[in-house]
Amino acid sequence: MTKLEEEIKRRRTFAIISHPDAGKTTITEKLLLFGGAIQQAGAVKAKKTAKYTTSDWMELEKERGVSVSTSVMCFEYNNHIINLLDTPGHADFSEDTYRTLSAVDSVLMMIDSVKGVESRTRKLMEVCKQRDIPVITFINKLDREGMNPFDLIDNIEKELDIQATPMTWPISMGKTFKGIYNIYNKQYLRFNTTDKSFTPIDVNNINSPEFINLISENDHKKLIEDLDMINGAVDKFYYPLYKDGLQTPVYFGSAINNFGVLDLLDAMIKIAPEPQPAPAIERIVAPDENKVTGLVFKIHANMDPKHRDRIAFMRINSGVFTRGMKLFSHRLNREIKIANPLTFMAQDRSITEEAYPGDIVGIHDTGLIKIGDSFTEGELLNFTGIPNFSPELFKKVIVKNALKSKQLTKGLNQLLEEGAIQLFKQVLDNQLVLGAVGELQFDVVKFRLQNEYGADCNYLPYSIAFAYWIKADEQATIDKFIYENKQYLAMDHMDNPVYFFRGNWEVEHLKELYPKINFYKTSECKEKDRI
Ligand code: G4P
Repeated sequence: MTKLEEEIKRRRTFAIISHPDAGKTTITEKLLLFGGAIQQAGAVKAKKTAKYTTSDWMELEKERGVSVSTSVMCFEYNNHIINLLDTPGHADFSEDTYRTLSAVDSVLMMIDSVKGVESRTRKLMEVCKQRDIPVITFINKLDREGMNPFDLIDNIEKELDIQATPMTWPISMGKTFKGIYNIYNKQYLRFNTTDKSFTPIDVNNINSPEFINLISENDHKKLIEDLDMINGAVDKFYYPLYKDGLQTPVYFGSAINNFGVLDLLDAMIKIAPEPQPAPAIERIVAPDENKVTGLVFKIHANMDPKHRDRIAFMRINSGVFTRGMKLFSHRLNREIKIANPLTFMAQDRSITEEAYPGDIVGIHDTGLIKIGDSFTEGELLNFTGIPNFSPELFKKVIVKNALKSKQLTKGLNQLLEEGAIQLFKQVLDNQLVLGAVGELQFDVVKFRLQNEYGADCNYLPYSIAFAYWIKADEQATIDKFIYENKQYLAMDHMDNPVYFFRGNWEVEHLKELYPKINFYKTSECKEKDRI
């Protein structure tokens, strides 16, 4: 095996998705603790203050360091390199989250055992399913009286339309929580409620008096019944199904008590896929190709208007990246020397000498790089997989002082390149419409337009439910559709036409009226995204 192949094999790049309060921050911290990347609990928590208000977010962003370095957390566990990509899941929810999912090979989904599947998780899982991303599930907070574990499995299957298969199984819950039984390696992880410690115990004979004694007769009876039921009625873990995003292995635990976290980490290493081939328009790029390729999926702006430098996050898709390399961008039609590439070890960022497929490298950028840019050693390649999704909130934007329209256009274009917002121009009157998935995105854009570009703007409400991209086999069909529906048509920043829907009712109506027009949920207009 070459060094490159070896390094690929030991990498896992993933993101955690969850609804606010399910325990994402807590599990992140525990993973970092087990990975030795941080020394004490509380280190990740510091970031939480940023969640709630715009002004908090601004303050924090001004200090920059914190959120940049927690965007990617890299740590070592059991001779593996784990790249954990942060997906803001709170008030600061934005399209950044969606794009981050295009830079990972798998996802960890956290579910609160008391609440089951919640709305944010549902939304994020839709994106995972669109991309066939493999998902491991962690059901958290077993130290609380939660839902019945079978109901939880059922809840995941029904709500998320994915097969769920338990890998571990809880023995009781809440105050009487005894621990978990690992169905596959037949190990009992005992939970000690008094000091919250845990002990792994191999169970050679599940009916032995020692084991029954440990968990009590009642709980033993229940466990045997549950396991019988699982055996008879639940689909077994089957790797190809997991890999295709059709089945999710489920682990139970309690993040705050470190409980079940090691099983999870072991699963990440054993089950989660290593860096996968990356699709480009021209061809599919295998990670073990010798030439370096990479894709920029996120840009982090400096909030200080005096220093308009940014950090572009590039996922390495193939080859061995070394410091000082010159990489070519097809879009820019030029090479960029990457003199001081950054890597991110939990709280710190440092200059890296080398990076491998699956790793994320931070590139200092003075405003050249755009989200979605592909870099190579000269080949003309354009990676796909970072489309725009339909925004859920829309606002018309008006500059307060007409003399500042130039600044507004410049600012909006820059913010667009960073992926901070989506911009549409209405066909009827050239009115600019901003689209976002979180309210905070609008506040941030307004703040930045004023502070960095001197363009004071106002928003006008615009009640649109979603925007779908349109395509047809013949241009004439599109032209006719645009002509007849000008009022709700707009062009995105790449000049692709989108239709602004006012509600679901309109979709069927328009499909019936215009059978030759296809509507797509993303700007890439892939068959899978067609509605
Ligand atoms: P998030 O990032 O997904 O929003 O969730 P976070 O980790 O912040 O956890 C949300 C709350 O749930 C926190 O409590 C956290 O301590 C708690 N929590 C996390 N894991 C467990 C668990 O296994 N069991 C129980 N019982 N609680 C858990 P908080 O009161 O909001 O914050 P804090 O005061 O504890 O920091």
